Amino acid sequence: MTPALRTLLCSMPKAELHMHIEGSLEPELIFALAQRNGVALPYASVEALRAAYAFTDLQSFLDIYYAGASVLLHEQDFYDMAWAYFLRARADNVVHAELFFDPQTHTERGVPMATVIQGLKRACDAAQAELGISAGLILCFLRHLSEDAAFQTLDDALPYRQHFIGVGLDSSERGHPPEKFARVFARCRELGLHVVAHAGEEGPPEYIWNALDVLKVERIDHGVRCLEDPALVQRLAQDRMPLTVCPLSNVKLCVYAQMAQHRLPELLAAGLCATVNSDDPAYFGGYMNDNFIATFEALPQLGAQDAYRLAANSFDASFAPAGDKARWRAALDACFAPSAA
Ligand code: HPA
Ligand code: ZN
Repeated sequence: MTPALRTLLCSMPKAELHMHIEGSLEPELIFALAQRNGVALPYASVEALRAAYAFTDLQSFLDIYYAGASVLLHEQDFYDMAWAYFLRARADNVVHAELFFDPQTHTERGVPMATVIQGLKRACDAAQAELGISAGLILCFLRHLSEDAAFQTLDDALPYRQHFIGVGLDSSERGHPPEKFARVFARCRELGLHVVAHAGEEGPPEYIWNALDVLKVERIDHGVRCLEDPALVQRLAQDRMPLTVCPLSNVKLCVYAQMAQHRLPELLAAGLCATVNSDDPAYFGGYMNDNFIATFEALPQLGAQDAYRLAANSFDASFAPAGDKARWRAALDACFAPSAA
């Protein structure tokens, strides 16, 4: 990759739309919070924890990810975690971030919903005020739990309705198809919440179809397995349905053996509204710019036009107001103007 392309990837303004805030907990912060809160960890050191980050599939990651999140107890812990992420985002020229959070991971341990949402919301407000980053929160239901548990979580969160913009669906995909959550997603749509779902990361194309047709999502998280079904690719292109692709995640969780095998170029060539995101950056080897650099380095057929398209797609696919999108798009255009190259 040329130094000019690398500079462009790093300096261009971009939105992050697929990032689990609990997945931004770096081992150092996990240990600091464990000490602060008197939580015992089954790892002797930061190095021992990091050494455990050798995943074979989604579930092998989730087991460690939920263990890491067990150090979060107080509102300040949620604030500190999110603030650390926003500092990284600022360094990567992320101007807008829509953050997933997993309340059930915390409420099941006795942490009140208010603690989770208020800590994260306070960090989002500080990101806007102090860093100029606009941020929204997306409440994810854990799909390995029941739809009743999702309804209960929604009820618990509704007193804080103004603090989150939408709902999503994450955790173990295989065996937990989107239609398991048809009724709770219908209720969320009635409430005016945005709706997204993980589909087609490990699950088959059928899960993407059902996320579209049953859950009526506005974005598909991951979605890379759509390429196995040409009719589905056509549908996604026709609807300009965004896919929030997470390249380093896909390699770490063995969806692709190597980055050189990642199919992002095919998604773009098919005219899909693909975006690049970090998923769980503390676990998968990097934040936004690390994802862009690793992807463009391994796939030399990607160039400046693709970089522009990916950033423009990230703004198009966001749930931000039209005025903000236009402003970011103008800043992106300025970055790619000939005088800036
Ligand atoms: N997939 C599904 N669930 C998750 C992920 C992911 O990549 N990260 C955190 N929860
Ligand atoms: Zn994810």
